[in-house]
Amino acid sequence: MNNHKQAVLSRGLFIVAAAVAVLYLPLAMNYTWPLFHPEATSWQDGVNTVVNGPGYATADGSVQSVRHAAYAEHRVVLLVHTTLGAVALTLALFQFSSRLRERRPAVHRWTGRAYLALMSVSMLTALIFLYATPPAEHFIGPAFETQLRALAVGTLASAWYAVYAIRKRDVISHRAWMTYSIAFMLTAPLLRFIWIGIQPVIPQHDLLTNIGVGSLILGVAAPGGAALAFMLTQHTPPEAGTTPVSAWRYGAAGAIALLGSLTYTGLTLRLPEPIPHTLVAFHLVPLWIAIALTTLGVIRARTRGATARERQWRWLLWGFATAPVSATLFSMIVPPAFTAADAIIAGGMDGAGIPITICFALVVRAAARAHADRTDPSRVASAPTASAPVSSG
Ligand code: HEM
Repeated sequence: MNNHKQAVLSRGLFIVAAAVAVLYLPLAMNYTWPLFHPEATSWQDGVNTVVNGPGYATADGSVQSVRHAAYAEHRVVLLVHTTLGAVALTLALFQFSSRLRERRPAVHRWTGRAYLALMSVSMLTALIFLYATPPAEHFIGPAFETQLRALAVGTLASAWYAVYAIRKRDVISHRAWMTYSIAFMLTAPLLRFIWIGIQPVIPQHDLLTNIGVGSLILGVAAPGGAALAFMLTQHTPPEAGTTPVSAWRYGAAGAIALLGSLTYTGLTLRLPEPIPHTLVAFHLVPLWIAIALTTLGVIRARTRGATARERQWRWLLWGFATAPVSATLFSMIVPPAFTAADAIIAGGMDGAGIPITICFALVVRAAARAHADRTDPSRVASAPTASAPVSSG
């Protein structure tokens, strides 16, 4: 992809992310006001009521019905989490502006520091809230709690790793892991868009079941979106030593994806009433879309003979292809207090992110090393094996 196309795509991604964040910010900021002033109204519940009616938005099976007491008891913690989270997300979006980075690097640095501080407090208060309250009383409750914990830790870890990277002047890793952290932050507005927007499509679900739907989708889409954004906005120059691999490796990835999908589907068929077995589709459909997109990336790179680019797409393909296996395995390592149903749902929500993140990390590390070799030729000269052909994995 040429630089112009990449710039257009970067801007497009930025506009979509900014629109999502800006539309949601007022709702997030206002969310806790009714907990301090009962006469105030929740705009989020108001929008949801207008779109889906009060039965869905605030009656049985809604967040209000199962979480109001916990929110009221920990309202200061929730106020800090939601307010700082909303401001942090707004600041984060400015970090993608290349104009700002180039013309006013000091502003980029200070905005980055502010994001880190606000995001860190927001994530720590989220973890405090989760520690202080039992899971929501609904069949998605325990599994959703594991996903929220993973999201909080993942958001914190990736942003702080991005800071470590830039202190070592590793711009590629810095941008990649900041994108990952911000993709995780964007799950907050996206989850609400899903639970409000999807109800007309699946009217038989209550709101909390649709939080489960959104969490299954975002368990793939958040780390996967960060990986795809990295690929689509990053130029991959040719790299000495990368060689094409035989087609059977792609066949193997496809077979593992199919086997994992069948196994995880088999598990979800064991879910007891009233848990809908169709939940599995919200894990598998985004995964197979991602597999199709990465396969397309592989084919395009292979056709052009761009072996370094093909390797990046191939590694990501492996991340998505092994995700349903990981979901199945994750279902077996959850806390003993979990029921079989909690475990299976947690597998779908959390399992996919693990191989996708590992493969993303491999792609970023290889890209960062190749970039360092190009910009600092003395590294290559002093590394005896660097110019020798290497297996491209
Ligand atoms: C990925 C990072 C995030 C994590 C891990 C996280 C975690 C949490 C947790 C644990 C709760 C309480 C849920 C419960 O058990 O009932 C919560 C609620 C909430 N969070 Fe976050 N959050 C994140 C990002 C954000 C951001 C960026 C915003 C604002 C833009 C936000 C706004 C809210 C709001 C408004 C609620 C109230 C619940 C509701 O909307 O129904 N969160 N979050």
